[in-house]
Amino acid sequence: MKAAIIYYSNHHSNTRKVVEAIAQGRDVALIDAAATKSADLSGYELIGFASGIYFGKFHESVTEFAANNLPQGKKVFFLSTYGGSRNTKAIEEAVKAKSAQIVGQFGCKGYDTFGPFKLVGGICKGHPNEEDLEHARRFFDGLL
Ligand SMILES: Cc1cc2nc3c(=O)[nH]c(=O)nc-3n(C[C@H](O)[C@H](O)[C@H](O)COP(=O)(O)O)c2cc1C
Repeated sequence: MKAAIIYYSNHHSNTRKVVEAIAQGRDVALIDAAATKSADLSGYELIGFASGIYFGKFHESVTEFAANNLPQGKKVFFLSTYGGSRNTKAIEEAVKAKSAQIVGQFGCKGYDTFGPFKLVGGICKGHPNEEDLEHARRFFDGLL
């Protein structure tokens, strides 16, 4: 199944590590939403949206990419990394507006030194770790 993942990763490249672990050795196109604002996704059967959680949601570049580029009726999944907890409400709304079928989501902890956490050396240090990345690969393989 031809797949693409649109991602945003900035803080500690946590989400990038997850999407690159999945893409390695698999037929997956990675699209960085910070660099690419539009793409033709019509040829992909499975489309992932991936982001760190910033202020309780996916980064707006990913949500906007979905709103502007996701064709109607695609199979969609979500990947996220977070210091506290995941929240996919905004991206879910964006893909539901395109009649997408949400086929799964994976999330794991990501090293977080935002704000006061910096003072204590950050939280979730070392994440995503190799176990997290293996779980991400298994999640993706289960979608195929
Ligand atoms: C500006 C900012 C805001 C954040 N807000 C949240 C949040 O609301 N909830 C949460 O669980 N983590 C939050 N985090 C932690 C990130 O979600 C976490 O570090 C994530 O793995 C970052 O992904 P990235 O390295 O791919 O950018 C925040 C981090 C930053 C830098």
